Amino acid sequence: MKISWLPCLVGLVLVMRWTHGSEEWGVTEVNAATSVNPLLVGLTLIPSAAAKGAVCLDGTLPGYHLHPGNGSGADSWLIQLEGGGWCKDISTCVFRKKTRRGSSNYMEKVIEFTGILSNKPEENPDFYNWNRVKVRYCDGASFSGEGHNEAAGLFFRGQRIWTAAMEDLMSKGMYSAKKAFLSGCSAGALASILHCDEFRALLPGTKVKCLSDAGLFLDAVDVAGGHTLRSFFEGVVNLQGVAVNLPAACTNRMDATSCFFPQNLLAYIQSPLFLLNAAYDVWQLQESLATKKADPHGFWQQCKLNNANCNTSQIQFLQGFRNQMLNAVKEFSMSKENGLFINSCFAHCQTERQDTWFENDSPVLANKEIATSVGDWYFDRAGVEAIDCPYPCDKTCHNLVFSRNHNH
Ligand SMILES: *[C@@H]1O[C@H](CO)[C@@H](O)[C@H](O)[C@H]1NC(C)=O
Ligand SMILES: *[C@@H]1O[C@H](CO)[C@@H](O)[C@H](O)[C@H]1NC(C)=O
Repeated sequence: MKISWLPCLVGLVLVMRWTHGSEEWGVTEVNAATSVNPLLVGLTLIPSAAAKGAVCLDGTLPGYHLHPGNGSGADSWLIQLEGGGWCKDISTCVFRKKTRRGSSNYMEKVIEFTGILSNKPEENPDFYNWNRVKVRYCDGASFSGEGHNEAAGLFFRGQRIWTAAMEDLMSKGMYSAKKAFLSGCSAGALASILHCDEFRALLPGTKVKCLSDAGLFLDAVDVAGGHTLRSFFEGVVNLQGVAVNLPAACTNRMDATSCFFPQNLLAYIQSPLFLLNAAYDVWQLQESLATKKADPHGFWQQCKLNNANCNTSQIQFLQGFRNQMLNAVKEFSMSKENGLFINSCFAHCQTERQDTWFENDSPVLANKEIATSVGDWYFDRAGVEAIDCPYPCDKTCHNLVFSRNHNH
């Protein structure tokens, strides 16, 4: 049962910016509730990472935010891998290394822990008293690259950052965890899938599961008939030397870029995994399906800003995208170990935001909030295989509405 609490209902501009590809979006939302007195957690850099060459794009130390568990959660660890796009070529990586996504010099020294990271039982019923960690993302290849470009002064050390962060957390008590849960949003969700089996191997005898929140990036055809995201991922994988860190069983069968797409990767993940995704993932709509390049006349512009503005043929196209997503998880969902929650919303990342994770009017599917669904699945209280009916049937969505876009 949810305990009611005082939401701040404001028309706020979230500090959520997607900067990659050629577009940057500012999100404006009405009625997005924010946590009252959110827990603030400081940044810890990982000094031992330097000797391991586990550095951010610009060579600075990687880091994380850790809030210790207590009581019945003292021996349980939740790891949240931060998201934030990717960089696919020298110029986008050089840009990125001057931001918090590529350098700890620019990271916030303190961040809010809300949703799945909250320390309040009324906001986060199952994980509030666990050790909760947010690992900062500063490589640009979902914690999976390996390489170096000396001329540009770029380090592609995502895989080493992953390892260094895990080693550091092991030394801080994770080695004796009874329960562990690896999660992530967006690029961090893809990282959570990519590292799920490694995470489980680190913790033998521990109950280990993984969660991907908005990580179902599809190798889909865009509105112009092109393959925007495939080209983009190809750049990321090639530039940052990702292939060596992908499951060999996959790369033996297909090209490395294909193995970076969950639809191909999932078959090679052996640990229990929960896929949470909006069927009309707005990041994919904006950055993969209807980019400025694929839609030069801007026919999709209004639909990208607000789903209420999509016309009939656009909705039809998006239903096709949803069908591809459902196809991509068909085999995955046959395993009883796995969990699934695909709601028919225009959203992207629903675990860290309090309003979508667990609140009075947060999204539900099969009568369960996201927090309840994820908790039921993690603790084996119930199987969760929830697929929503197609848009516009779901009235519980918190659809993202965007004010404008800036081009640069
Ligand atoms: C556990 O955490 C809660 C809330 O953060 C706090 O009120 C309580 O004192 C803590 N208990 C222990 C034993 O540290
Ligand atoms: C809907 O938008 C598409 C562009 O995506 C356009 O080609 C089409 O004419 C529009 N349909 C209607 C009925 O306005």
